[in-house]
Order: sequence, then C-alpha cells, then structure tokens
Amino acid sequence: MPSLIARSLTVPFSSAAPIRPTWAEVDPGAFQHNFKALAGFLPRRVKIMPVLKADGYGHGAALLARSVSAVGTRLWGYGVSSVEEGVALRDAGVTQKILILGSLFPFDSFDTVLEKNLIPTVASRSSAQALAQRAQRRGRPAPCHVKIDTGMGRIGMSPEAFASFSTNPWLKVEGIYTHLACADSPSATSQQMKLFEKTSRGFGKGGECPLRHAANSGAALARPNAWLDLVRPGLLLYGVPPWPGLGKKIDLRPVLAWKTRVVFLKTVRRGTPLSYGWTWRARRRSRIATLPVGYADGYRRDLSGRGEVLIKGVRCPVVGRVTMDQIVVDVTDRPGVEVGEEVVLIGTQGRETITASELADGAHTIPYEILCGLSKRVPRLIRGDR
Ligand SMILES: Cc1ncc(COP(=O)(O)O)c(C=O)c1O
Repeated sequence: MPSLIARSLTVPFSSAAPIRPTWAEVDPGAFQHNFKALAGFLPRRVKIMPVLKADGYGHGAALLARSVSAVGTRLWGYGVSSVEEGVALRDAGVTQKILILGSLFPFDSFDTVLEKNLIPTVASRSSAQALAQRAQRRGRPAPCHVKIDTGMGRIGMSPEAFASFSTNPWLKVEGIYTHLACADSPSATSQQMKLFEKTSRGFGKGGECPLRHAANSGAALARPNAWLDLVRPGLLLYGVPPWPGLGKKIDLRPVLAWKTRVVFLKTVRRGTPLSYGWTWRARRRSRIATLPVGYADGYRRDLSGRGEVLIKGVRCPVVGRVTMDQIVVDVTDRPGVEVGEEVVLIGTQGRETITASELADGAHTIPYEILCGLSKRVPRLIRGDR
C-alpha cells in the first residue's frame, strides 16, 4: 500500500521526449547550487532543512533530495507535509532525517511514522501522548519536534500549553519550532521571535538541548533573528525569491523550466474572434499559433489575455481565453515561426526570461501556487536527459 501512495504522489518523470510536446525540465544541479549559495550566506552553525512538501513544490522531491544529500555537513534533513510524502521519500531510498511538518491525524499514522523512521511534529498534548504510547509499545523513545504557535494560527501548542508541557521518557524532543506568518515584515517577525524565545527558553535544560527553528525562505535571507540553529527554506531553493529584491542577496538559479511547441499555425483576418467567449478579436491581419497547454496543465486561466510566452526569444501575447488544453498566441510580430517551434512558458530563451513570479503576478497568485500547480499531465524531464 505505501508504495501505491508513493507512486500517486510522485510527479511523472520521463526520460523520453514527450509525445504531446509540453514538458517541464528540472535541473537538480540548480537546486544544489541554491543550497550551496544559501549555506555560504548563513553562519556556519546554521543547518538547512530543504522543504520538499508537495513533491518538492512540484519538481520531484526525491530527485532534489538526492542532489543535496552529499553536499557537506550543512544539510540537516528534509521537511515534508505528510506521512505519505515522508514514505515516498523513504521508498525512493532517502536515508536522511525527514520531519513531517503537518499535524498528524489520525494518530494511528504514528505507527507508519515510527516504522519508516520519520520524525513527527507534536502539536498538542494529545498528539504527544499518542506518540509516547506507540513508542512505549515499540520499546524505543520516539524522536519528535514540538511546534509552538506564535502567531501563524494553523497548528502548534499555544505558548501557555507549551509552558505546562512536560516531556515523557518515551519522547525524544529533538527540536522545537514555530512558523512565521509575515516573514516580509520585520516587526511581525520580531514579535513572533520574541514570543518563541520566551516560550522555548530553558526547555531541555540539563538534558540535551533541542534544535530551535523558525525561518522559511524569506526569513533565511532577510531576518537573522530567526536563523537560530536551523532554517527551513522551500521556495528559494527552487530558485525563486520569496519577494522582489530578495533574489539579489544570493545567486539563485531557477530549477524548473516549462516548455511546449507550436502545434498549429494560421493567419486570421482583421476582426476575427478567437477562443471561448470571443473575448479577443484581431485588430489587424494576424498570425496565430496554437500551443498544447492549458489550465489542466496548470497554465492559469487568469492568464487569458494577460500572459506572454517566448518564441524565438521574443515575448508573444496570449490572446483570448486560456482553455483546458490549449492556448493561442499572437506571433504576428515574430515572422518565421513554424509548427514545431519551441516555446518557453517559464524559463529563458535568448535574452528574455519569464519567471514563475511573473506568471504568478499575471494570474493574481503567488509563485508557490504556479509551481505546485503544474499538473501530473506535464512530464518532468531531468535537465540533461533530452
Ligand atoms: C512549516 C514550514 N516551514 C517552512 C516552509 C517553507 O516555506 P518557503 O517556501 O516560504 O521557504 C513551509 C512552507 O510552506 C512550512 O509550512
């Protein structure tokens, strides 16, 4: 059963060129580069936990885990969101520590957690008890990280609940952590960090001091007061700055490029309407290319009439509505385009680049949603395979 779960969670890697010519290229070398750049930026004492939730933000978690597994001593292990994601990494041969960042329910899932040597988050007294009971049954204390809610408001013990939380001999609290709600705000971050420090101070005194961690990508780059012992970057390791300007702090390389090819070309007369709802009409005689990508692939419908793609190194506008499987683009200003021409949806062609952040702006969302939203229909090719 676990391997079935694992397979259904994993993005479809392919070593052959796809038949439908729409694909993503994943560059594990860029992920490793970003990891090293971050390691060089942070003080040496700070360890790094790449966050590989949602199958590595849609890139393929196991591939990226492998790309940094042998890079020096700064890697702590990986963060995932669920037991299934942890099992998928273990089944793919990942041997490093894996912390499950989500809340565990039902508590029966602790059995799989222990069996697969995953580290759960303890976010309440009841989850601590349930884990301790299962650890006792197995005769070995269970490693865990305790989460304190200092303001994110999703999961975690309140500072008051944590104050009266006493450890159990069957729990090995290896970490205490919190999550920042507004890493882009120095004042909100320092409010959360003060509360976290006050709450966690003194825990484990006399015994082994657990690791403390709080920082996501934004805080890892911009909030030294949140670095503590360990940082948990996601987005930045995929080469996307969490907010504009932050990308200048270290040299980031995008890990994913998204491409397709022109499958149909036509010339339309002035006044010709296109796509659902006829929201666009040609203002002149126009050359129109059809691309086999749509919202079922993760190309957001909000990009209707707003998105741009790169063809022959030139930006070409998406015209009319994005449909489930196809979009149409105006290539009138780029003569010489032919059926089969490579098109870049995210990535660089010539001197032009379209980033996940640009697509997100156009689609009124965040780059996280663009990357995680690339559907299973888009085969991921490992860069260098084609
Ligand atoms: C608990 C936790 N830590 C770290 C991260 C990584 O965040 P980011 O991708 O902004 O670095 C996430 C992502 O949502 C998270 O939920």
